[in-house]
Amino acid sequence: MDITYEKSLKELHTFATEESCNCHIVCYDTNDVRQVVTDYLQDDTPYLVIGGGSDIVFTERFNGIIISPIIMGIDIVSEGSESTIVRAGAGVVWDDFVKWCIAHELWGAENMSGIPGHVGASPVQNVGAYGAEAGDIIKQIEAIEIATGRSVTIPAEECRFAYRNSRFKEEWKNRFIITHVLFELKSKASPNLTYSALKQAINSPEPTLQEIRDAVISVRDSKLPDPALIPNAGSFFKNPIIDKVYADRLKEQYPDMPVYVVNEESTKIAAGWLIEQCGWKGKSIGPAGVYEKQALVLVNRGGAKGADIQNLANAIIDSVRSRFNITLEPEVYIY
Ligand code: EPU
Repeated sequence: MDITYEKSLKELHTFATEESCNCHIVCYDTNDVRQVVTDYLQDDTPYLVIGGGSDIVFTERFNGIIISPIIMGIDIVSEGSESTIVRAGAGVVWDDFVKWCIAHELWGAENMSGIPGHVGASPVQNVGAYGAEAGDIIKQIEAIEIATGRSVTIPAEECRFAYRNSRFKEEWKNRFIITHVLFELKSKASPNLTYSALKQAINSPEPTLQEIRDAVISVRDSKLPDPALIPNAGSFFKNPIIDKVYADRLKEQYPDMPVYVVNEESTKIAAGWLIEQCGWKGKSIGPAGVYEKQALVLVNRGGAKGADIQNLANAIIDSVRSRFNITLEPEVYIY
């Protein structure tokens, strides 16, 4: 393992705010994780596990230990006629995992091409895009339990995957450090073209995995900024799920408002649309801005401190609340 004291957080998260932490520990295998758990996490020192740092914004110094489990490797566990089980290390870059699946002709991850971050973070907030979610293909999780240092395996059915949520974000927060994720991928072609912009971008009736990946990446590139060029953390807020009766009333007033049925009582509204309606698209407060092509994405236009991002986020929440009576909640983890 590698330990660095007084580490800048700028290079550890894609929003790249100028904050720092007391200590950063990189773990390269399960034994490193177990050792960190027993040697560093058994007192009250605050700690945080981060993967690619693509869904977190540091708004202040972190007075504690940041742990990065950079556990690599992708292996086939079992192959059947219908599906193949693949085990990937928590530190594998998510999109490298997607590319690996495509190279091995395995279906299920392709719609999630280009999502930033690491495999180990995928179950925590059930990452997703273009009609697919990580929870749809996750079979099992391997982790170290922090209280005991024990290795545990957790079946997907116990993770309670939901829209950008799982038990790892709720009652299991700070209970485990994920070391590996097992995925079940389909061996036979099963394109998922439920997302209309993706369907439109694909010409073939029986697209290949590579054609789907290329279409996903072109749709993504048309809307989402590359964090390497413009620091950001993807969608900053969740799409709010609101009472259907109120959503129907809004829809009458704003027929263009994008809505997604959740169930008989609830409707999901596109937060990007709400933010755009409030006039924020392309606007900035100091170095913190709202991306020109997708109002749900906040960006660091250069040198933003955490407080700049927080100010902008609060101003957006206030405008959406006063215009629509809907309270936006962050999708990113704000520390
Ligand atoms: N819209 C606007 N104005 C905007 C942005 C969006 O009117 O500025 C409208 C769009 O026209 C569309 C609707 O809102 O009708 C939804 O927009 P989009 O398809 O771009 O997706 P989203 O709901 O804003 C979600 C995920 C993204 C994911 C896309 C595609 C959340 C919080 N975000 O965004 O995930 O890539 O769907 O599946 O659910 C992320 O989690 O970081 C992320 C980027």
